[in-house]
Amino acid sequence: MRILVTGGAGYIGSHTCLELLESGYEVVVVDNLCNSNMESLRRVQDLTGKTVRFYEGDVRDEELLRKIFAENQIDCCIHFAGLKAVGESVAQPWRYYDNNLNATIVLTKVMQEVGMQNLIFSSSATVYTEGNPMPLRETARTGGCTNPYGWTKYMTEQILMDLCRAEKAWSVCLLRYFNPIGAHKSGMIGEDPQGIPNNLMPYVTQVAVGRREQLSVFGNDYDTHDGTGVRDYIHVVDLAKGHVAAVKYVMNHTGCEAFNLGTGTGYSVLDLVNTFQQVNNISVPYRITDRRPGDLAVCYAAPDKSAELLGWKAEKNLADMCRDAWNWQSKNPKGYQ
Ligand code: NAD
Ligand code: WQD
Repeated sequence: MRILVTGGAGYIGSHTCLELLESGYEVVVVDNLCNSNMESLRRVQDLTGKTVRFYEGDVRDEELLRKIFAENQIDCCIHFAGLKAVGESVAQPWRYYDNNLNATIVLTKVMQEVGMQNLIFSSSATVYTEGNPMPLRETARTGGCTNPYGWTKYMTEQILMDLCRAEKAWSVCLLRYFNPIGAHKSGMIGEDPQGIPNNLMPYVTQVAVGRREQLSVFGNDYDTHDGTGVRDYIHVVDLAKGHVAAVKYVMNHTGCEAFNLGTGTGYSVLDLVNTFQQVNNISVPYRITDRRPGDLAVCYAAPDKSAELLGWKAEKNLADMCRDAWNWQSKNPKGYQ
């Protein structure tokens, strides 16, 4: 079976390519490298001893997609390609709506033309409306997003649900990721953000490696056990394995189904920082600052539906995530550069 992975050179995409290859799938990647480096896929090939067929280009390029489908017998597509920085999406909304929505529209149009209608989409816990009770189930209210990035995920889910209603041959999984962190145990591939990291773990690892002076902990007056924000951190390798499970699911079903990919356990910012310091025996200087606008106090998943229907469960704990994130960063202080 051959899987087309859009955005496959990126953080989650590269880990998923590796797990797909290890599970015996053939992998074709399309990526315009706007937020990634070909080096990730070179290393995936080294680690697996297998080849990835790579097309450099934009998923919005209809002719390129036709060429890829003509040259490869594709059975299923995993669609990671998208822009993902929340703050940037507020400053550049048009760029986010254009990239994230048109990529999906062009991709599904060409898939429909060639009659390959199995799709897995990278959605996010950000689609859930603020105020839902925790843990978040897939049936919780969605919408009311606080930024354009979140809206692109919400709108793409809507497009794909409508498509499945209209065209009964389609099979779509909407995978709602919680907070992916960590890296492959080899330390050869990992998260390599450009510029100042927006997310907690890459900031922590860059402080630990000496690239940044100290971490700002955004608020310690939330209604949580230590006052700092609580999230459902999930090891990126567990997340990647969730995609392999979803491939099996889409190939045997039709219609559109949403799944949470999280562990079901919430940890605070200080839980993560303390665990990181302990398991890696390294200090991470931090100071408490104001809350970051738009942040929730608590967010974690109910992962039962994924366990039941995908047969998938996260296996790695917070210590594994911290150890593997540091293994990657310490071996690659400047990322893929
Ligand atoms: P990433 O930026 O590392 O990977 C995205 C990849 O897509 C990059 O390689 C980028 O070059 C490519 N890309 C972007 N637009 C493209 C286009 N128009 N054509 C071709 N390639 C394009 O990000 P990631 O963390 O691996 O995230 C992958 C997906 O998962 C994204 O859709 C993201 O929104 C979603 N997601 C990520 C998180 C997270 O915390 N990392 C959480 C929830 C959802
Ligand atoms: C985690 C916790 C912060 C940085 C974001 C997106 C979401 C999804 C995942 C794509 C929070 C705190 C952070 C720092 C800190 N992405 N923090 N200091 O905000 O849960 O989710 O990434 O879909 O859409 O919004 O993740 O890693 O930014 O923050 O104290 O320097 O760490 O306040 O409590 P978040 P995060």
